[in-house]
Order: sequence, then structure tokens, then C-alpha cells
Amino acid sequence: MSQPPRSSAGGRHASLATRENPALRGAGFQDNCAICIRGLCQTFGEGELKKQVLFDNELDLARGEIVIMTGPSGSGKTTLLTLIGALRTVQQGSISIRGRELWGLSSSQLVDVRRNIGFIFQAHNLFTSLSALQNVRMALELKESDRAEMDRRAEEMLRAVGLGHRIHYKPQQLSGGQRQRVAIARALVHVPQIILADEPTAALDKQSGRDVVNLLKKFAKEQGTTILIVTHDNRILDVADRIVNMVDGRIISDVVVSESQAICEFLRRVPLFNGLLPDTLTKVADQMELVEYKPSEVIFRQGDAGDNFYLIRSGEAEVVFEDGGPGKVVATLDEGKFFGEMALETGEPRKATVRAKTDLTLCALDKEEYLAVKTASATFKEEISKVLFERQR
Ligand SMILES: Nc1ncnc2c1ncn2[C@@H]1O[C@H](COP(=O)(O)OP(=O)(O)OP(=O)(O)O)[C@@H](O)[C@H]1O
Ligand SMILES: [Mg+2]
Repeated sequence: MSQPPRSSAGGRHASLATRENPALRGAGFQDNCAICIRGLCQTFGEGELKKQVLFDNELDLARGEIVIMTGPSGSGKTTLLTLIGALRTVQQGSISIRGRELWGLSSSQLVDVRRNIGFIFQAHNLFTSLSALQNVRMALELKESDRAEMDRRAEEMLRAVGLGHRIHYKPQQLSGGQRQRVAIARALVHVPQIILADEPTAALDKQSGRDVVNLLKKFAKEQGTTILIVTHDNRILDVADRIVNMVDGRIISDVVVSESQAICEFLRRVPLFNGLLPDTLTKVADQMELVEYKPSEVIFRQGDAGDNFYLIRSGEAEVVFEDGGPGKVVATLDEGKFFGEMALETGEPRKATVRAKTDLTLCALDKEEYLAVKTASATFKEEISKVLFERQR
């Protein structure tokens, strides 16, 4: 994650790639937070074989939110899911599920927590001697006692996942995808508060995968269920409110999809960025910070060292040349215009002061990121050379 831009006059910063969940900003955090993780570490093995696999993780999931987690194999995604699901004891750090702390709970208390969680895991763990209906019904037996009612709900759920015609089949009479759908029906049938899914669409064809995702979305929106999905399936990314990336046991980025999409749309309209591939564009958007200024607030001063590149998202800025007197306005820049690249390119101090003329919102990219983007994009290089060339004249 990029550092907040260090502008001389401050401004109000808002990160686009943030660990602060906008669904949880302000009042009502406790009420609205379904899963709250702080300082979570996990180690496997003893002595020489001891290996830490999770490092100081933080994550907040709101009620009704769908979060997708991606990351390389072995990075710790399943381990994190099993800790949240109370399938393992928390060794260090805190996980709170709807306000209930998991650290220090006994095994029977952990079982109690699991009752409110629906699991869809890679190995679907169906009972081979039981039919699809009986497998699904088992999830209701902890809470419900009316057998006819349990059958009715189990059948309804199997129909919802497209298996109405297979309810009396046993797992070995079903295909891999169908078995996966039984597992999904079993996870959803007791209307859990939280659903944890590990590669739920991996064994499914495109349409079945889409159906499952739509069903999960319906649950999130109608029942306020919080859903955390680990997946490498980029066909289902669009369902997510947020995408979290885990690498080597650490959550390294946490992106609010709607904010990221909005900023990509905006960047795409700017010639400097429109040659970037969507992948690079998204990375640039995630690294940018929104900074707001009031009229006459200074973004940087002539003579300052250059640390950021700026793009105007809305409002107007004035470029002022300071000559010991009141200063001379040499240009006014509006939406889509950019500035601040010169000092980053040359390493020399700012050649002019830039201040807000109206209420101003800027997207700021720090020097390191700016240089990385430049390397990635031929268009970017050409554009900058052109701009620098024109400014020399
Ligand atoms: N029970 C265990 N005992 C010892 N090490 C384990 C155990 N479970 C997982 N690990 C190790 O912890 C690390 C993280 O494993 P984890 O299963 O969480 O990864 P993952 O991100 O889910 O990977 P994949 O995408 O392949 O499913 C791996 O190095 C793995 O070998
Ligand atoms: Mg895994």
C-alpha cells in the first residue's frame, strides 16, 4: 500500500486501497461488524518444524458484505478461513464474530460459534451413505426438530441449487459439480449469519458457477449474511464488494471494488493513462490517494522537493510563479489535467506553487508508484516526453 502523500499543506486524505472498510466507517461499527480480525498470527508445527503461516493480519467484514480473497497457493487463505470458522483455536491475535471473541474459547464454545456459520470447503465432506436430502437436512438437525419441516427446507434448498431432480441420490451417484452443489445447499439451508467458502466454483462449469454466486449474493442482500469466498476464479470477481489479496501470510491489499472501478473510469478518460492495460490501470487506481483541498489551500510550494504526481478529479487549481512579490498566476488547471511530474522526472525542486482555486479533489500517486507506472506504459512515457517537450518551449 502506498504511503499517504506528503503535501506541504496537508489536505484531507482518503485511500482508495484501504484497510478501512467504508461499510463500517463512523457510528455503528460494533453493530455492523460481522467479522473483526486484529493482529492475527498462526504457526504450525513444533521445534525445528515450526513455521509461521499468518502474520499480524487485520480485516473487517460488514454484515451483508461479500468479500473475495485471492492469493498464491500456500499463502494462508484456507488457514485464515478455518480460524474465522472456529475450526481451529486462535493462537495469537483476535477474531471477533458478531461481537463474540474467539480467542480463549473452549471446544464446546467453538462448536456453538460454528452453528451460525455455513462452510463450503474444497473437500466437500458429504456423508457417502446418505442421500443428498439427508446430507442437507443434517445441517438443520442442530437447530430444528420438526422432521417434515426439515425435509421441506432441505428439498427447497436443493431445488434452489438446481438439484431438485437428484434429491434421493447418494454422493457417488452425483458428478463432482453436483456434489459441490449439495455441499452448498447444506451450507446455506440453516440461513447462517456467515458463509465461508473455499473455491466454491472450482468444480463447476461456467453457468453452474454463476448460479452459485447469484445464490450467495441473494443471501447476502436478503438475509444480511456476510460471505467470504476464497477463489482463483476470475469469472466471479464481479460479485465482490471488496477484494482482498493474501501473500505469504499477509493481507497485502484490500480494495473496495466500487471505488476502484470509479477511479479507473476516471483515469481511462485521461490521455496519459488510457494506453494502460486494465490490469495496470487497476493497480494504479489502487495506489492512488484522494486528497481534498479548500480554495486557496496550497498543494505544494515552489522550491519544495517533488514527492507526488497529481491528477485533478474535480475542481480547479492555479499554478503560481513566486518572484518575491504576491506571485503570478501562470496557468489554471481543471478536471483531467495533471501536474507535479516535472520534479519527479528531473529530481529538481518544484518550479512553481500550485494551490486550489475552488474546492479541489486530487488523485495523488507517490513518486515510487509514478516511476513504476511509467516503466509499465509506453504511452505514458510518450505522453510525458511530449508534455515535457512542450513545457520547455
Ligand atoms: N495442518 C497443517 N500443518 C502444518 N502446516 C500447514 C497445515 N495447514 C497448512 N499448512 C501450511 O500453511 C501454509 C498455508 O496453507 P493454506 O492451506 O492456508 O494455503 P492456501 O493459501 O489455502 O493455499 P491453496 O491456494 O493451495 O489452497 C502452507 O505452507 C501449508 O503447507
Ligand atoms: Mg486453500
